[in-house]
Amino acid sequence: MRGLLSAFIALTLAAPAAPRTAMGGVWLFPRSAEFPGLRMLRLSRDAGGWRGSVTTDWYGDVPMRALAVTGGTAHFLIDNGNPRLPPRPWTATIDGTRLRVTGDIWERHVESALRRGTATDATRLAFPRAPLPAPVTLAADGLAPTPPMGWSSWNRFAAAIDDATVRAIADHLVSSGLRDAGYRYVNIDDGWQGTRSADGAIRANARFPNMPALAAYVHTRGLKLGLYSSPGPKTCAGFTGSYGHVEQDARTFAAWGVDYLKYDLCSGEGIFRTAAEVRLAYQQMGQALRATGRPIVYSLCQYGRDRVGTWGSGVGGHLWRTTGDIADNYAAMAAIGFDKDGDAATAGPGGWNDPDMLEIGNGGMSEDEYRTHMTLWAMLAAPLMLGNDVRTMSPATIALLESRGVIAIDQDPLGRQARRIRKDGDAEIWARPLADGSVALALFNRGTTARDIGFTLQDAGLARIARLVDVWAGVPDSPTRRTWEIPGHGAMLLRLTRAP
Ligand code: GLA
Repeated sequence: MRGLLSAFIALTLAAPAAPRTAMGGVWLFPRSAEFPGLRMLRLSRDAGGWRGSVTTDWYGDVPMRALAVTGGTAHFLIDNGNPRLPPRPWTATIDGTRLRVTGDIWERHVESALRRGTATDATRLAFPRAPLPAPVTLAADGLAPTPPMGWSSWNRFAAAIDDATVRAIADHLVSSGLRDAGYRYVNIDDGWQGTRSADGAIRANARFPNMPALAAYVHTRGLKLGLYSSPGPKTCAGFTGSYGHVEQDARTFAAWGVDYLKYDLCSGEGIFRTAAEVRLAYQQMGQALRATGRPIVYSLCQYGRDRVGTWGSGVGGHLWRTTGDIADNYAAMAAIGFDKDGDAATAGPGGWNDPDMLEIGNGGMSEDEYRTHMTLWAMLAAPLMLGNDVRTMSPATIALLESRGVIAIDQDPLGRQARRIRKDGDAEIWARPLADGSVALALFNRGTTARDIGFTLQDAGLARIARLVDVWAGVPDSPTRRTWEIPGHGAMLLRLTRAP
């Protein structure tokens, strides 16, 4: 018996490490011409079975659909957020210690640009465990009493961003009047990071030769500087993340004069396996930022999972993404704004649902569609982060971004996010109570042809309307008017004043 047992133990010890869910993990793709735009693939297995996602430049982070894993091969569908373009089948296969992936991408979500890619050289992220803090709930710190407003580099520049461009953007935020309209944060998203020094301190890459000088430049223009990092070892675009250096990075950011941090889960997903661990990873940076003593707005980006609105404030967050990445087309924008805009009940002064940055001015939508985008974000009390090149804006884009009446609704101090109060086919009515007792009402036409949309006093929750303002036109209309013709994909925004 004893002989049998020791033989069994010897066998067990000698056996090669089990092919432990061999496909599971976070797989990073080096940038290559083999499959441009492919960044990362994640696969994990829990009691509910396998799940995974693929991150690309074109689609952001997209969940795998119809995922089937057999042996060393995973088959799944990748959806692109555009109903005109069907999901495409992908395959991932273990090839020794590497992962080979084949799939199709609709580049830029454009029908004519279907590209088939194969990447053979993904490597698995493997890192030692760094400790997480004990759970605490941080008290509100008074930052972000209204949704943060500013500009972010990602939607327009992706990782191709540099010091000179950021300075020029800051200059144009001032000269265009956007700063004075409220857009204060100049946020450098992914792509600024270089390597760590011998003592572990994060350094910017060669495109950002002097981050403190850049912060000073931005500050002297009455603006604030934002940066981006990840709780994982790599950011979504493959740059250095804060894993294992959380407190050190927070101190570095504060010393540089940073006023805003977007913290994007990315490769952290392969390390923090449960919702509780992800929360602690976010809490760790929240505490680290607080410990610096510098007021730093903290933007959580874990794509709206695990009811983030219920814990985002408690980890020190001032805004939290409610969704995967936006794209510059109506279908993607509408899918987020109408349906992935977060739990209204969890948002308010100090902590906001973030349906992602604006695409207005990037060219992929019509003017009516961009007006809908801005109207929706204002109704949702969403952070307004410009995602365009403000150095080259058309007058129409400026008009959409600078409308004082629309911004006033977004920034209303009551901070109550709108709710959909009626949906009738393609017609939707959303309402938002405002601090002065008036009501913002938005009429949306999600169809492609113009139609009349009307509201009732009941919709508005008012017994009588004293004053009715067409917010985009900036002029009062008759307080008894109830119906407007709304163009396809268009919106009407009204501000209704209660009769005394
Ligand atoms: C993720 C985020 C985006 C952007 C990119 C940068 O996809 O959701 O908003 O920050 O990473 O790589």
